[in-house]
Amino acid sequence: MDLALCISLTPKDTSHLGDEDLAELDSPELRDAVVRALERLGTVRVWDTTTLSPKEIAAERRPDLIFNLSEGIYGTGREAQAPALFEWLQWPYVGSDPVTLGITHDKWYTKCILDRAGIPTPRAAVMHRPLDRALGLAYPVIAKPVAEGAGKGIYDANVVDDDAALAALVSTYLERYRQPLLVEEFLPGREFTAAVIGNRGSFEVLPLVEIDFTAIPRSPRRVYGYDAKFTWHSTKHMLCPAKVDSGLQRDIESLVIGTCEVLGIRDWARVDLRLDGAGKPYVLEVNPLPGIYPDLDYISCFTKSAYAAGMTFEGLVERLVRTAMERYRSDWFLPHKVGPHPASPGDA
Ligand SMILES: Nc1ncnc2c1ncn2[C@@H]1O[C@H](COP(=O)(O)OP(=O)(O)O)[C@@H](O)[C@H]1O
Ligand SMILES: [Mg+2]
Repeated sequence: MDLALCISLTPKDTSHLGDEDLAELDSPELRDAVVRALERLGTVRVWDTTTLSPKEIAAERRPDLIFNLSEGIYGTGREAQAPALFEWLQWPYVGSDPVTLGITHDKWYTKCILDRAGIPTPRAAVMHRPLDRALGLAYPVIAKPVAEGAGKGIYDANVVDDDAALAALVSTYLERYRQPLLVEEFLPGREFTAAVIGNRGSFEVLPLVEIDFTAIPRSPRRVYGYDAKFTWHSTKHMLCPAKVDSGLQRDIESLVIGTCEVLGIRDWARVDLRLDGAGKPYVLEVNPLPGIYPDLDYISCFTKSAYAAGMTFEGLVERLVRTAMERYRSDWFLPHKVGPHPASPGDA
């Protein structure tokens, strides 16, 4: 098979970027691990969207399949940019389409869709301007930049207990992150993340990961934000398989599968969930481009879950490739053909 890995690597010169800007970008070690896994299936080219322009990628020969991990660098639609190019060129790729990637990157739009489908998410409001009215939410609330990932802009201090503290936080964060803020009722219960592989009608939830806050004592508010993910990263705070009774397991799985169905997830995703004070699960957010760091010292929740399901790293990559190929071959999958379409620049 003629394969390409599309990835956004950390740039060599990071002087113009802050630590948070780098959080979503991938390392050469991850690139090498994925390339090694893909090489078992065929030849592999690597396209780094940090250094290549869309024009350079479009000038490439059309591969049989692209393994897309591209996070993009700029803009709220950055995760959607590489797949949008592939759709334009009609090149097949692993993972969700640009519409799903664009929507899920915005936590408010995601919640609006989940709400409509009756999938519980915490009560919330979106703030475009400094707070000038009561939001009618129950304190404590957490305020977070509406369209970020990887814990960016999320710390213990984002959890506040009254109007005055919220007003101060909203003003500071609007200025700092230059985007609307999502203010959500803070759910105090256990936190889980669910890795999913599959497509419409066949999503499989892998063993749940629980975030063990007793192993993150420096987060008294129990927030799995930037510091917990990076500054204090440890494999100890990920419990997998999570110890949950069969009722809760069933409820979480049905929420996760419903979430993937309604958002049009393709091939894989990770869904973050948390319980309220009464033990009821809610969806916090959806990651259709989850991290897959393979290392046992620095591991992603998705990989941890895949290992608990009995997969190796190579097995996981192969499974994702096969899941995408099955999707392209399946009867239900109707890629939108806009025609007449000029030949792709890279076509022979
Ligand atoms: N409404 C909420 N209630 C409780 N904890 C929350 C809530 N929203 C976010 N958090 C905490 O903050 C963490 C990061 O938030 P999340 O929305 O998943 O952003 P990211 O995209 O950075 O992962 C969550 O894993 C959770 O620990
Ligand atoms: Mg999250």
